[in-house]
Amino acid sequence: MSIIAGQTVLLTGASRGIGAFIARGLAKENATIVGVARSQEGLDQLSAEIKALGGRWLGIKYDLSNLEDMPNLVEQINKLAGPIDILVNNAGIEIYKNFQDYSASELQSVLTINLLSAMELSRLLLPTMLRQKRGHIINIASLSAKKGNPYNSIYCASKAGLLMWSDSLRQELSGTGVDVSVICPGYVSGQGMFADTGIPAPSLAGTSKPTDVAIAVIQAIKQNQAEVIVNQDLMTANFTKLLLALWQIFPRFGDKFYQWIGVNKLNQKRAENQMQVAFKADESRTMVGATPDLK
Ligand SMILES: NC(=O)c1ccc[n+]([C@@H]2O[C@H](COP(=O)([O-])OP(=O)(O)OC[C@H]3O[C@@H](n4cnc5c(N)ncnc54)[C@H](OP(=O)(O)O)[C@@H]3O)[C@@H](O)[C@H]2O)c1
Repeated sequence: MSIIAGQTVLLTGASRGIGAFIARGLAKENATIVGVARSQEGLDQLSAEIKALGGRWLGIKYDLSNLEDMPNLVEQINKLAGPIDILVNNAGIEIYKNFQDYSASELQSVLTINLLSAMELSRLLLPTMLRQKRGHIINIASLSAKKGNPYNSIYCASKAGLLMWSDSLRQELSGTGVDVSVICPGYVSGQGMFADTGIPAPSLAGTSKPTDVAIAVIQAIKQNQAEVIVNQDLMTANFTKLLLALWQIFPRFGDKFYQWIGVNKLNQKRAENQMQVAFKADESRTMVGATPDLK
């Protein structure tokens, strides 16, 4: 699909971070945006901003871990905004831990939000796109889909799944008028889940800005690009591609490179930080629930 103006776009993860930048970018291209996320406050904030820019916006509060109710969500969207022309599967979460410390529900929520919700939304929207003989599905994966990294293995698995599913679906839908693109950003600075950790990226790993991801999404739609790597500084997209190709032949060289530039240390730190946050939350819950000593 090469034209964005006048199209209706369903964007998940639209309440903050990279999703907000994608929404602004699409609004500037004169698309109608249907933004989905759990935070009503985040959706309302973006709604006001986009409407002030003269854009068309509809915010819908929805928890994407609820796959069962998605047919109703799609029905509601169809009623309020009409058929969806472009789907941007952007919502995502990550949990840093030693693999053996994940609970079954943590495994389930990362895989459901990052991968299954994208598949289910696409499955529900595809019949209309196929009938209209036009449509575009954009999946926001990650560089973690191309090379795994420690203490974030479930996230990497979910993003690798998203990447390979996009690759398969693109071929399956070839010639139908429905296109599929996958975007793989490296570390994104400024805003988003990585910036929120407050820990800087290893200097040799490269970073990009949320606007770079938004620009990549718009270009992928306009030029029907199959797969886009978003990374800058020393690790330009082309240099990253070269390294990834090399690591296909020599995977342990990739492991050593990540260790050498500090990816492993960084993730270990993020795992420790997340554990401390969880511990503090547990502690304050125990304090609130404690029975007062009346003696
Ligand atoms: N930031 C990076 O460095 C980076 C790098 C590569 C790829 N990515 C990918 O880019 C995408 C956006 O990430 P980000 O950095 O913008 O993250 P973020 O700031 O944490 O935002 C995540 C978005 O997903 C939504 N979301 C999370 N769980 C949800 C649920 N259960 N139901 C509905 N919405 C949910 C959040 O909204 P609510 O909390 O309001 O529900 C929020 O809008 C993700 O897929 C991420 O994996 C990010």
